[in-house]
Amino acid sequence: MLTWKKAGPYLVLCIFAFFPCSQIIAGQSNSLMDVTQDGKKIAVANTDSGTVTIFDVESRKPLAEIPVGIKPEGVTWIGKGPLLAVTLYSEDKVIIIDGEKLSLVKSITTEDEPYGIVSTNDGRKVFVSHEYPGKISVIETADFKVSQTFNAGKMIRGIALSPDEKNIFVTEFYTASVNKIDTATGKLLDQWKGRSDDNLARQLTVHPSRPKVYHPHIRSRVNIIDADGSIFPELTICDTSGLPDKKKRTTMAMDTFNGVYVVSTPWEAALSPDGKMIYIIYAGTNDMNICKVMDDDYSEIQRVGTAIRLGQNPRAIRVNPNGKEVYVYNALQFDVTIHDPIRMNKIASMKSCDPPKSPEWVRGKILFNTSNPPMTSRRWVACFSCHPDGNSDGRVWENPEGLRKTPPMAGLAHTHPLHWSADRDEVQDFEYTIRGKLMQGYGLSKGPLTPKKGFEKTELKEKLSDKSADLDALAIYTNSFGFTLSPHIEAPGKISKQAERGKALFFNNQVGCASCHSGPYYSDSQLGAKGKIHDVGTGNDDPSEKMGPEYDTPTLLGVYRSAPYLHHGKAKTLMEVLTTQNLKDKHGKTSHLSNTEKEDLVEFLKALPYEMPPDETPNTVKFRFVPKK
Ligand code: HEC
Ligand code: HEC
Repeated sequence: MLTWKKAGPYLVLCIFAFFPCSQIIAGQSNSLMDVTQDGKKIAVANTDSGTVTIFDVESRKPLAEIPVGIKPEGVTWIGKGPLLAVTLYSEDKVIIIDGEKLSLVKSITTEDEPYGIVSTNDGRKVFVSHEYPGKISVIETADFKVSQTFNAGKMIRGIALSPDEKNIFVTEFYTASVNKIDTATGKLLDQWKGRSDDNLARQLTVHPSRPKVYHPHIRSRVNIIDADGSIFPELTICDTSGLPDKKKRTTMAMDTFNGVYVVSTPWEAALSPDGKMIYIIYAGTNDMNICKVMDDDYSEIQRVGTAIRLGQNPRAIRVNPNGKEVYVYNALQFDVTIHDPIRMNKIASMKSCDPPKSPEWVRGKILFNTSNPPMTSRRWVACFSCHPDGNSDGRVWENPEGLRKTPPMAGLAHTHPLHWSADRDEVQDFEYTIRGKLMQGYGLSKGPLTPKKGFEKTELKEKLSDKSADLDALAIYTNSFGFTLSPHIEAPGKISKQAERGKALFFNNQVGCASCHSGPYYSDSQLGAKGKIHDVGTGNDDPSEKMGPEYDTPTLLGVYRSAPYLHHGKAKTLMEVLTTQNLKDKHGKTSHLSNTEKEDLVEFLKALPYEMPPDETPNTVKFRFVPKK
């Protein structure tokens, strides 16, 4: 997380100004791992275990694994330490830990979905990015209170401070836009917009002395459904000089960067303290690039050697402030490996935690995340590329069967059948995807599959569960995503008055929403003979549609954060679902409602879920992870 000021000229400055040199540290960037300013301790957030592990660098040993809560997504040492701060994405909290006493100090309630976290070098302030609300919150460490919140963009994840800490840079996860915010006022100062297919930008790092910001992301080319044409690994460099003759954004294709050696899921980048090297890790292919940072605006970076193999699913990389060691957090190998900074030879490895949940779930997560065989033979794409950690990629794909928005996977275990057209009844059916054109993998099961004829729903007849331990593991992982309560509620179980009015309309027989969006998951999706699909008038405005116009009723839990809507993504907002996309009243009766009533209805939809749905229903599938009580 620490990138340090270019040492050379500043060292000289230091001597003249009699500054203690150790104070010259560049701005931080978000990560699952952070090293103390003195380089002696490392903290790592184990997202799936809900713990933070603190390591002693010299002895290469973990000092403690501390339980923090659900889904820690970011960690930062506060100034020089010994305190550190951790975001809990699913609990809307920031936790403060004492890294010496190895104990919890404080829990701070924040805005929804705290993701990235960085500290000022003097440790007085901590800045947090909040994904769904698109905000930054400022926490004063004197009293651990949130002093300010800023609007910073849409669905923001990456957060970094400029070396002088006057600016905060953030990345928007789905647009890869980089936004520059004034640290003091929260004003948006500048924006480096991504291209329409740039996607999944969850981290960025600011150069200590050059006016450059680096951020890894992918490209999702929705008009191509092919293992080597859909998803691309990229690194974008934003020029922050503000000079008119400079190209604002330069994007490097990290596939051709390595000759014929393809990499996937660029997830994090780290600069060396002197700003001369940049390390980029690839969570999908388990490798990294080491590059020289070029002092020009043209080549930007130059590869050193070939791509280096890392452990399973590397998700964080940090350089020791002394510049002598590089640390990689291999999230699905549950360890931190220590490397030399030039050749990246592995010096040591330190265990961060035990594998979480169950061995099958872990195996499933590995398969879901990897772009290596047997999932695909081509190394470009993973299930994760379009379903990052079970989220949607926010895209509408031009599939052979028609336009298809990628749905979020929360609640999947209870809302089978699968796909908008309900053409699959078990996650194991995704063996067809693995062996198909999109993945071009060898597959996880043995023997041939019943061949598909056109758009016939062949998978409904083909039983693939209980045939391959790997396919079952993939199903167990894919069925494991749950919800968190909507931020648009007053308290658990309590919705606003406006949402209450909307609720009455939703359950009103004439409006009729609940006839299809029924039960605790707001869906009548059902496996077996009773399963229904419905024509709600949405299937006719896509000439490429091959399977419509009847679709499976999607769950409405979590729709507040999953725009665009409908199978073809043509509704940009929930209001459009009820209005421009429902002109003939085939999708519930809405034409007789006043604008206020429609707004009430939308307010109710945004409040879902306001209470946790049950963990088991008559439609819940067998292949899933159930935590022990
Ligand atoms: C190129 C992007 C992409 C990749 C790669 C991808 N998917 Fe999907 N996935 C989609 C889209 C788009 C849909 C919606 C398609 C539909 O409903 O017909 C979808 C739907 C699904 C669904 C159904 C969700 C629901 O609510 O009905 C599951 C389950 C799923 N994918 C699992 C996987 C698995 C497992 C893999 C890896 C083997 C994978 N996907 C790879 C884009 C992708
Ligand atoms: C006849 C069954 C039926 C009724 C009645 C119905 N829906 Fe739906 N709903 C569906 C189906 C099927 C889809 C998916 C259609 C598509 O994707 O083209 C859907 C999609 C949606 C979506 C988009 C979800 C997403 O993730 O994209 C929303 C929001 C929604 N419905 C809300 C409502 C509301 C509000 C009402 C009442 C005014 C209502 N529905 C009435 C069946 C129904």
